[in-house]
Amino acid sequence: MKAGVIGCGTISKFHVDGFREAGCELAWFCDIDPNRSKAYQDLYPGSKTTADYREVLADPEVSIVAVCTLTSLHNEVVKAAIAAGKAVICEKTLGMNAADALDMCLFADEKKGFLSTGYMKRFFPALQKAKELLEGKKIVSVYARTYQPFPGLYLGDPSQQKATGDFLRDYMGGGVVVCGGSHIMDLLHWFCGLPAACAGQLDTVPGAEGFDRDANALFWFESGAVAHFEAYWHEYRRGGFEQNGWDEEIRINCTDCAVTVNTPLWHKPENNAARVSFMDAVSGDYREYRYEALNSFTLHEIEEVRRVAEGKAPSVDGWDGYVADVMIDAVKEASRTGKKVKIAYHEAMPRK
Ligand SMILES: NC(=O)c1ccc[n+]([C@@H]2O[C@H](COP(=O)([O-])OP(=O)(O)OC[C@H]3O[C@@H](n4cnc5c(N)ncnc54)[C@H](O)[C@@H]3O)[C@@H](O)[C@H]2O)c1
Repeated sequence: MKAGVIGCGTISKFHVDGFREAGCELAWFCDIDPNRSKAYQDLYPGSKTTADYREVLADPEVSIVAVCTLTSLHNEVVKAAIAAGKAVICEKTLGMNAADALDMCLFADEKKGFLSTGYMKRFFPALQKAKELLEGKKIVSVYARTYQPFPGLYLGDPSQQKATGDFLRDYMGGGVVVCGGSHIMDLLHWFCGLPAACAGQLDTVPGAEGFDRDANALFWFESGAVAHFEAYWHEYRRGGFEQNGWDEEIRINCTDCAVTVNTPLWHKPENNAARVSFMDAVSGDYREYRYEALNSFTLHEIEEVRRVAEGKAPSVDGWDGYVADVMIDAVKEASRTGKKVKIAYHEAMPRK
């Protein structure tokens, strides 16, 4: 299968590696900065480069593309790719907000396109194990946090914070909730189902409207579960299970057991593995599962490429991306209004 990568910035490396490991031929690299696409061409002789993504989409031999541009450009590129008949793996967050994501999902469904959202953390073996351990269990409550060691974003130079904040708001859709929190929201959705209501509080950098650096929320799920969510850019350089400042944990309490997962520093998957522990409240047994440090981006790409080849629907589809964006919007609205917000989904969204 021939693949194209659109947007050759920070995140693209993981998709390039993922396509290669999935057995794809890297055929195109596209970026408005020719140095970035050229750097990949040097690694993959025979591949082509362009500054215009439409050139990639016009190549009939390309079957699949990874959309790795900033989020503000996802909608335009994703819809053009779907219209051109390409399978799409789009980085998260899918949209700048829920309405933006919805527009892509409706378009993909209308065209019967393949649209996957890059919530790759689901593919850590420890997360797959957690999902298996929770099969058939009644989840009562969840505590989920992502603390990320970017102190400059919390207590930095105000003018730098404002510049970063304005950029993130305008091109990514927000601050810590969009960047780190969206993964945790996706996992909450994956484990607990659909949220029905939300209360929340965002702390924004003074003078940088729309740039959240610390967020708390309570989600009430249709299943009856309640989750406390927190996302925070912090100063604690030694926090987290690997003591490197990256502190992500999801503790899931069921009627007869508890499952805890820790996810590792996101861009060093070769050094770190996620882990899961299981406590059986009835027998008192406690088990911890450790895994090889595998790259969840690659595992995601392999799974989606296999599904494209077999004519199946995506594993993490556009609607999953839409739900995370709905959750983000709900926290923002709850924080703005100070009220508990009822969460509604578009009627076209399939209920899985
Ligand atoms: N999954 C994760 O954990 C994770 C982590 C970081 C970023 N992301 C997501 O990845 C996406 C990209 O983020 P990034 O950090 O790689 O940003 P980046 O700025 O490093 O890369 C974006 C690239 O897109 C290029 N670009 C801009 N306009 C273009 C156009 N019209 N056509 C082609 N290329 C164009 C830029 O030149 C740049 O090289 C965002 O949606 C972000 O939310 C996901």
